[in-house]
Amino acid sequence: MSSLFNTKISLNDFLLRDGIYFPKDYQQLNSTEQKQRWDKIGKTYYGSQKIEQAAETSPIKQDYTLLTGRPGGTWLKFPVNKSVDSILEIGCGYGRIPLFLSKDKNLRCQRYYGIDISESLLRRLLKCKQEYDFFPGAEFHVICASAELLPIEDNSIDLVISNCVFMHIPDAQIRNLLVEISRVLKPGGIFIFNHSFHNKSCPSHQIHNFVRRLNPVKQNPVYLKQYSADEIKAMLTASGITTKCPQYTVEPTQEYAILPQKIKGIPVPFATTINRSLKPSATMKETLAYGYSAYSNNW
Ligand SMILES: C[S@@+](CC[C@H](N)C(=O)[O-])C[C@H]1O[C@@H](n2cnc3c(N)ncnc32)[C@H](O)[C@@H]1O
Repeated sequence: MSSLFNTKISLNDFLLRDGIYFPKDYQQLNSTEQKQRWDKIGKTYYGSQKIEQAAETSPIKQDYTLLTGRPGGTWLKFPVNKSVDSILEIGCGYGRIPLFLSKDKNLRCQRYYGIDISESLLRRLLKCKQEYDFFPGAEFHVICASAELLPIEDNSIDLVISNCVFMHIPDAQIRNLLVEISRVLKPGGIFIFNHSFHNKSCPSHQIHNFVRRLNPVKQNPVYLKQYSADEIKAMLTASGITTKCPQYTVEPTQEYAILPQKIKGIPVPFATTINRSLKPSATMKETLAYGYSAYSNNW
């Protein structure tokens, strides 16, 4: 499987500044709508607490979960005490998942590569690393770029992880990204894309899509396309990932929704209560699940 136009980049094409690798043509990236949007979101990050503002006496300093919460889904199944050479994280944000895997699962690595489009979130990731020292002793490579071309050697990564990112990336770009992930993953390596795709048949997304079509000019630019399980499997196969990891799972997430939380920024009454009360049968899970996770089965 060939990479995007057979173009390859390496970290030599980046400039290291304040502990972050920036593309040499950073202005070009800064001029994109996607980058501006995520820099803006990253400054507040959905209103979450900021490690850089926590007082020395704050309990957050002792307990990282007060800052990040505890991630669920596939991460809870991750084995304890695993050790790998290299980890690549797509859309690492401020480091919630590596913090959890390092602290709660005692995952160890020699090299960690985190790529994210948001400079503000990467700066917070470096603060979190300083504060909690996750993956102690590992080489850290934090890269500010749009994850489409990966500045990483072929067949060099043991574990590729991503949490809640692909649904924010346009379809064509995800397909290129999956080809790139396939290129850099070692044969027999592990991939975990937790809660990464929105589910095409989920009624909540269908309502959103209907509202979007009413006003095609002003669309929500954060949540993009949704997929079925078969479409996700086809994308993984087309990228070559399933050749490297033939045993894999695509499964619905355990959050179900018939109503969106908000429509055009306006809260939908009782949506949370109604969605939380859903207890779908096995056959209905694929319909009502908010999203899908995909992961190889070789952990
Ligand atoms: C919902 S957040 C998830 C962040 C992190 N994985 C977590 O679980 O906390 C989505 C992340 O994707 C990043 N992102 C969005 N588009 C991206 C792109 N094209 N390339 C790289 N990162 C991107 C955002 O900056 C943000 O950090």
